[in-house]
Amino acid sequence: MLKFGLFQLLLVALISSSHALSKDEFPPEFLFGASTSAYQVEGAANEDGRKPSIWDTFAHNGNGNRYEGNGDVACDQYHKYKEDVQLMANMGLDVYRFSISWSRLIPDGRGQVNSKGLQYYNNLINELISHGIQPHVTLYHWDLPQTLDDKYGGWVSRRIVKDFTAYADVCFREFGDRVKYWTTVNEANACALGGYEQGSLPPQRCSPSFKNNCSRGNSSTEPYLAAHHMLLAHASAFRLYEKKYKDMQHGFIGFNLITYGLLPLSNTSEDISATKRAQEFYIGWFLNPFTFGDYPDIMKKNAGWRLPSFTQKDSNLVKGSIDFVGINFYYTHYVKNSPGSLGMEDASFSTDMAAELLSFPLNDTYTEIPITTWSLQAVLDLLENSYGNIPIFIHENGQKTPQNSSLEDWPRVKYLHAYVGSMLDALRSGSHVKGYFVWSLLDSFELLSGYESTFGLYHVDMNDPSLRRQPKLSAQWYSNFLNGRSLDPMVTTEIEIKPMLSHTRLLHHAA
Ligand code: BGC
Repeated sequence: MLKFGLFQLLLVALISSSHALSKDEFPPEFLFGASTSAYQVEGAANEDGRKPSIWDTFAHNGNGNRYEGNGDVACDQYHKYKEDVQLMANMGLDVYRFSISWSRLIPDGRGQVNSKGLQYYNNLINELISHGIQPHVTLYHWDLPQTLDDKYGGWVSRRIVKDFTAYADVCFREFGDRVKYWTTVNEANACALGGYEQGSLPPQRCSPSFKNNCSRGNSSTEPYLAAHHMLLAHASAFRLYEKKYKDMQHGFIGFNLITYGLLPLSNTSEDISATKRAQEFYIGWFLNPFTFGDYPDIMKKNAGWRLPSFTQKDSNLVKGSIDFVGINFYYTHYVKNSPGSLGMEDASFSTDMAAELLSFPLNDTYTEIPITTWSLQAVLDLLENSYGNIPIFIHENGQKTPQNSSLEDWPRVKYLHAYVGSMLDALRSGSHVKGYFVWSLLDSFELLSGYESTFGLYHVDMNDPSLRRQPKLSAQWYSNFLNGRSLDPMVTTEIEIKPMLSHTRLLHHAA
């Protein structure tokens, strides 16, 4: 049980009285956890044989001039993993989702395995298991070994497929006796777009028109190529697992995407079809090949030759190569038709989509992420109805607060309460969702803001040399929930941001 002041406990209890939410209402096999990723929490970036990844390079080059900091030390989970596992156990987590740093395990991306890296992940996995916590492992969370980017451009080359498969092979062989859930790629869509179209994220490749200080890249072709190779690399690792490990290890291999609630800006047929198009571009881009063996027709039509085509062999490799889909969900966007962008000289994914994403609500002045559980429900419906009712994990969901803000993180408590409640609604309406992970266990080195804003259930004092962890109110809330004490902020319903009724109908129509 977490230690928290009487005042905070009273508050949690007070808000626990109106609309009860209890873990007992969930099926016993439904998993609750928290997520992190290697570069964001491990630190020890130059220790024990680890070599840089493209994320190290991006951070050391100024994070696209948007914020400061890097993951050299981060939360130092590399040295503090025992303490962190204890925090998870105190909270009552069923699962911990973390990622393996490819360049810690295989420093040059291919070839020699680093025994210290192997030892670290074995230690972490064993520590989790000895505390009754299941490890869910992501193989790739934005941190390609720099050597592979230098050698052949990383994901833009098909050579990545072989190297990724060999890396996955090492992981399955070494850890697969204890790890049953593997996710190959985190947010493949965001990786391809941020890294290779807009150049705002590692490895910062884009055309000059994108103005993100890219020294190389081609926004017209590379996001499509990178995504294509992610699909092939995933499928190749899946097939390897199927052939070599599945009978022995009985595990599952999934793929992860960022998803947004998408809502037509108006009820015109143009905005409604733009919303459908945006869904095809963001989600169908990957789930169509997994379900049907090919890209959505609208993508083929609008991107033309710039979208790689599947040979029959590749199509067979990819189709069906997925046991579950992991989705990360934070935001809802309005979608506005943008037909004028089609056929532009500097064509790219964004112009091919011919739709513009606007903040929801419009002119958003919220510092926090607006709570829109109804739109997560629409995403779940979409996955269920359009992609064969595939099992789903909510791999990331969480609220952002400024670094060093109060430990009484009410916005996060409200946010988590609303979304955990919405999991129950989803299950009751037949959704195939299998588990829910809070982003994040700890305040860490954030992808979009460094150390300026945080998502942690635990505050990490970055000014304290020992990087002291302290539970926030949200950790207390999660712990209460996980330990079977019922709770609920009555405020939840008040703070949920809903569109006008007609829009809600449209969303379902569009989905
Ligand atoms: C990423 C995380 C990131 C989080 C919060 C997700 O897009 O997978 O690495 O820190 O969002 O911004």
